[in-house]
Amino acid sequence: MISQKFVLFPLLTLLLVSVLLVGCQKNAPTQEENKSPKKDYIRKIEGKSEHIPDEVVAKGEVLVAYSGCADCHRVDTKAKGPAFRDIAQRYPVQPAYVDMLARKVISGGFGSWGNPIMSPHPHLSIEDTRTMVYYILSLD
Ligand code: HEC
Repeated sequence: MISQKFVLFPLLTLLLVSVLLVGCQKNAPTQEENKSPKKDYIRKIEGKSEHIPDEVVAKGEVLVAYSGCADCHRVDTKAKGPAFRDIAQRYPVQPAYVDMLARKVISGGFGSWGNPIMSPHPHLSIEDTRTMVYYILSLD
């Protein structure tokens, strides 16, 4: 039966070509995957940074040391929370960002770094958390 052979051959070829096509599409990197993961993670916000006085940085470092932040944060490496230096790279030193971050330390929160949640710290004052945030942002 010659006709059966003529039908089967194109069918098999078609199948092979489609399998190959699907395979290639899977391997082709999407635009998202081409970007450096580090850059995506930081998502730097452009803006001018203010100078932070040394004494504010020093006070903030002490406050951070005594407030249990190290349970979840390290300066250079990601732990449960993002590395302080990564946070410093994202935000310009401007009162609006400092205030937003200081409030977030008090209220806790999630969703900015793809991590689990930061627990609330309701016992801390906004003045102290602002000073801590100034210290963190000085690490850039
Ligand atoms: C229980 C763990 C934990 C503790 C304790 C903790 N953090 Fe966090 N922190 C996190 C996590 C998780 C995130 C990321 C939250 C997110 O993705 O929005 C974070 C994020 C942050 C951010 C960035 C927020 C943003 O929106 O970009 C700052 C600033 C910060 N923490 C400061 C502090 C300070 C200061 C302390 C100490 C008073 C502290 N954290 C204690 C877990 C913690």
